[in-house]
Amino acid sequence: MRTQVCIIGGGPSGLLLSQLLHNKGIDTIILERKTRDYVLGRIRAGVLEVGFAELMREAGVGQRMDTEGFVHDGTVIAYGQEQFRIDFTKHTGTPVIVYGQTELTRDLYDKREETGGNLIFNVDHVVINDADTDKPYVTFEADGKSQRIDCDYVAGCDGFHGVSRQTIPLTVRKEYEKVYPFGWLGLLSETPPVHEELIYSNSDRGFALCSMRNANLSRYYIQCPLSDSPSDWSDQMFWNELKRRIPEEHADKLITGPSIEKSIAPLRSFVSEPMRWGRLFLCGDAAHIVPPTGAKGLNTAASDIYYLYHAMVQFYADKDTEGLDRYSEKALARIWKAERFSWWMSNLLHRYPDQTDFDLKMQRADLEFLRENEASQKVLAENYVGLPF
Ligand code: APR
Ligand code: PHB
Repeated sequence: MRTQVCIIGGGPSGLLLSQLLHNKGIDTIILERKTRDYVLGRIRAGVLEVGFAELMREAGVGQRMDTEGFVHDGTVIAYGQEQFRIDFTKHTGTPVIVYGQTELTRDLYDKREETGGNLIFNVDHVVINDADTDKPYVTFEADGKSQRIDCDYVAGCDGFHGVSRQTIPLTVRKEYEKVYPFGWLGLLSETPPVHEELIYSNSDRGFALCSMRNANLSRYYIQCPLSDSPSDWSDQMFWNELKRRIPEEHADKLITGPSIEKSIAPLRSFVSEPMRWGRLFLCGDAAHIVPPTGAKGLNTAASDIYYLYHAMVQFYADKDTEGLDRYSEKALARIWKAERFSWWMSNLLHRYPDQTDFDLKMQRADLEFLRENEASQKVLAENYVGLPF
């Protein structure tokens, strides 16, 4: 087989890049390790920056997002019984869209299949060969056969546990990592959201977040020790703890119900540089991870895709490699700002095992300054809705 761009990974990054390139007449093949249903079964965050939403619309996949997504003009920050609102639209002129990543990925799959996308599922033993030459090729196994795809470029969209990043030699690659000393226990319930906007809460018992997927599907999180497992937490224990971590005004209104999903995710900040090696380009979680506190996971993938999409269009139209040559530099410049924001939000809102009384006073002062100071609220809003591409 031969294609112009071989994309490793059929998650949001790979699917969106493939659709955008298709619309410009650039041929791709997506290799996905799992099945479509398995990918769609993943429960992921659902806050979209305006830039991601624009890319979805440009790809021709924004219809359901625009009709079913919730437009949020702000969010609530709570600490103890105190709470205040950050008005995104007042400070930046733009809102965010709350639309589950599962639905977004479903829309992308549907569009790829509608437009004749070439997706190969259940692949195994993917190897990216000769990425540092002008003739890269990808080998893999599917349907019990060894297969090969010759291509011009490889887009590594295969997430944190994929093969793409590992293809870049350790003598070339530098990795930066921070692992947080806690996890997020998340619960999905078919109940109405406790509030019309998200609530990020710093309580003396730990962090909590109240989010949603639609008018009858809510997503809640509480900070928990890394040693915990979901089976340690009955639904009732979860609801009782969540109520103790959010202001009573909201706790009293919380509608609880049986969990339809309950899981614990670790938190890490991670960046691998560079995001290009020869004809291989890394996108999304393959190159970087953020703690979910700033709702940046999917949105950091958006700017990678934006830069790589435009660079490839520029190359195939004019044989101009300027965008490709600057991809890593441009992508990383925005990624590091998203990493900083996600790290800062995590430090603002979580309780750390080694925090001293002085540290707690600093955290409280940060929250009170944020509450009182318009300029600091504008800084949070600009980062949350998304810095420019
Ligand atoms: N070969 C083929 N496919 C692979 C391989 C491999 N060796 N390894 C992983 N994959 C697939 C995974 O099965 C997954 O479907 O690559 C895809 C990577 O998707 P994601 O992990 O979702 O990463 P990305 O598309 O960059 O999306 C980032 O998704 O994980 C969330 O929080 C993250 O919101 C962010 C977004
Ligand atoms: C979610 O809805 O899952 C979500 C929202 C905001 C975050 C993290 C997760 O910061």
